[in-house]
Amino acid sequence: MKIVKQLSTITAALGLAFFSLAQSRPANNDAKMNAFIDDLIKKMTIEEKIGQLNLLTSDMDVTGPTMREGYRQDILAGRCGNIFNAYSPQYVRKLQDMAMQTRLKIPLLFGYDVIHGHKTIFPIPLGEASSWDLEAMQRSATVAATEAAADGLNWTYSPMVDIARDPRWGRIDEGVGEDTWLGTKVAAAKVRGYQGEQLGQVNSVLACVKHFALYGAIQAGRDYNTVDMSRRAMFETYLPPYKAAIDAGAATVMSSFNEVDGIPATANKWLMTDLLRNQWGFKGFVVTDYTAINEMIQHGVGANEYEVGALAINAGIDMDMQGSVYYSQLKKLVDDKKVSMATVDQSVRRVLEAKYKLGLFDDPYRYINDERATKEIMTSANREFARDLARKSIVLLKNQGVLPLKMGGTVAVIGPLANTKRDMIGNWSAAGDWSKAVSILDGIRGKASHAANILYAKGANILEDKVLLQKLNQNGGNISVDSLSPDALIKQAVETAGKADVVVLALGESQGMTGEAASRSNINIPENQQALMRAILATGKPVVLVLSNGRPLTLEWENEHVPAILETWFLGTEAGNAIADVLFGDYNPAGKLTITFPRNVGQIPIYYSAKNTGRPMDPNNKYTSKYLDVPNTPLYPFGYGLSYTAFSYSNLTLSKTEIRPADKLQVKVTVTNTGNYDGEEIAQLYIRDLVGSVTRPLKELRGFYKVPLKKGESKDLTFDLTLEDLKFYDSNLNWTYEPGDFQVFVGTNSADVKEAKFKLVK
Ligand code: NOJ
Repeated sequence: MKIVKQLSTITAALGLAFFSLAQSRPANNDAKMNAFIDDLIKKMTIEEKIGQLNLLTSDMDVTGPTMREGYRQDILAGRCGNIFNAYSPQYVRKLQDMAMQTRLKIPLLFGYDVIHGHKTIFPIPLGEASSWDLEAMQRSATVAATEAAADGLNWTYSPMVDIARDPRWGRIDEGVGEDTWLGTKVAAAKVRGYQGEQLGQVNSVLACVKHFALYGAIQAGRDYNTVDMSRRAMFETYLPPYKAAIDAGAATVMSSFNEVDGIPATANKWLMTDLLRNQWGFKGFVVTDYTAINEMIQHGVGANEYEVGALAINAGIDMDMQGSVYYSQLKKLVDDKKVSMATVDQSVRRVLEAKYKLGLFDDPYRYINDERATKEIMTSANREFARDLARKSIVLLKNQGVLPLKMGGTVAVIGPLANTKRDMIGNWSAAGDWSKAVSILDGIRGKASHAANILYAKGANILEDKVLLQKLNQNGGNISVDSLSPDALIKQAVETAGKADVVVLALGESQGMTGEAASRSNINIPENQQALMRAILATGKPVVLVLSNGRPLTLEWENEHVPAILETWFLGTEAGNAIADVLFGDYNPAGKLTITFPRNVGQIPIYYSAKNTGRPMDPNNKYTSKYLDVPNTPLYPFGYGLSYTAFSYSNLTLSKTEIRPADKLQVKVTVTNTGNYDGEEIAQLYIRDLVGSVTRPLKELRGFYKVPLKKGESKDLTFDLTLEDLKFYDSNLNWTYEPGDFQVFVGTNSADVKEAKFKLVK
């Protein structure tokens, strides 16, 4: 059988079918909208205009420092046109009622961090990305939007599309990892998923692309730190996913906390106006990140709120999240002629347009419906889909004959991550109801207790480090510490393991150890959990290490000593069921890493699309690029992931060895399932431009297929490469191509590939 259809076509087709179920609304008529908004702006006082540029948190849920109390009075007075951290029809209705008491009755917009699901929680984005399933990733955004909109919301602060290559950074879990090309595909899929075919459908919300820009490149992985990079690196590696989200129609953008080329993003006119609006054609509105305008005083680009407020609005920032700087300074800035009324009006217009497109002027209560909230949130269909996506997100890192587990006998489930529901839904699961999540232990019991004896021991606390525990628990960490001593916990676990045929050892991070303001300088499994692991391995029982975590961990020792390792991230509401499906072989794992796992922290940043350097590594030559104490290779490369079956690649052929710019190159390969199970393989295609006017990466992902293959089955895959795939930014930032030699690689991960060569001629 031949698969020649591009995945994007398949995705688009499925997307369409899914969206056609949505309630549709007549197309917005721009002229009508413009006339309506012109008229409204004419009626507005400067205070009312500033109100539309003011976004305040409710006290229902707070995601940062509270700068301004009394938001209800502000709504009633028309000083606040947008609220975040408020949801549920009952609560949102109360606030919208207040807006309806104002002179102009401009409806409120309700925003929220719906990051990986609203109430039904899906895997964290880095986990979900391991599925390489664009259609499923789009659908999880659609489900999240449907649940959010049914709960009174109309704006999500997602997708986060920051390319990140430093696993010390806690927020690496919110994006899709290190690869730009994959990042663009997921960014577009997410926007389509959230916004549907057209804004205003009752199951869609505004997407917000964040954090614009380069937040993922903060130095040393320390959150909120400085970013400093060349324009070429920006254009080549970091900016494309934001651009892809905007091309897909994202309605809003969030400015990042960091600086870009020495100027904080929130004051960066080049970024917010020249690039975003003039070059990329973005028409929506830009909101700051939380108090990002105020923070520019600490950045040192303004002495006070008056100065930084002027910088922000003149740079192109439309809405102030929670900082109240526009609220307190904008009128004076206009009076002093530091900011023109035209600038204010333009920002107000952008915000009003979003409200108009959502249909809020037709009906401010459009997204407030008690019945929908009871019917459309956490449905069994949503949970079923969450389970499937969770299974697809699991990556099998190692398996020496332990998995899949046989049904029967005695299974010991051990470890501090085995019996926790809270951790399963991960961080930024803001409205997620963790009491409804399935723990690993519950998932295993549900699947196997009819036929097997399931034992449990906690074995260790997640952490023994008192200072870290206190920090995490102060911020909603929910980490409990057992009354038994660490030694007693291990003793109990070893006894439990002794009675079992196999041990499922659930270790890793608690959800609060990744995410915002959760950078780590040491990304290992906490020491006390390692002590448990060593004790369990010493029993000689077969062990499956099931990892829960939000970032790559350093696992060299584990990889050497533990016979089977499953990377399960934080998989969401259905985590335990999905893990049990994989453990017992009801689902053959097919996920592949979208982020490199280093051997140790010293290798960071380490990513597959590195450059060759002038002294590429040569083990026999001292003066080449390498370390004395660790190889250059990662522990697990980008694109890596095993299956219960095995795949082989053969017959790599190219339709031509020389192509012209207008040609399409077909790259064909045969993939065969040579193992003992049916399975799915994610076949990846990379290119390398061998000589260029600027240096090019050793490999760049340009395509993939996720192919189901029955035991013994072979399939021929055809990848189409066009000139677009061979282009790059030259030193003048032109998106261009240069004739010359290219390599093309196809394989099971970025390090294990077959290769061929071709030439691009004029
Ligand atoms: C700060 C975070 O950086 C951003 O991602 C989030 O959307 C806002 N807080 C709002 O909660």
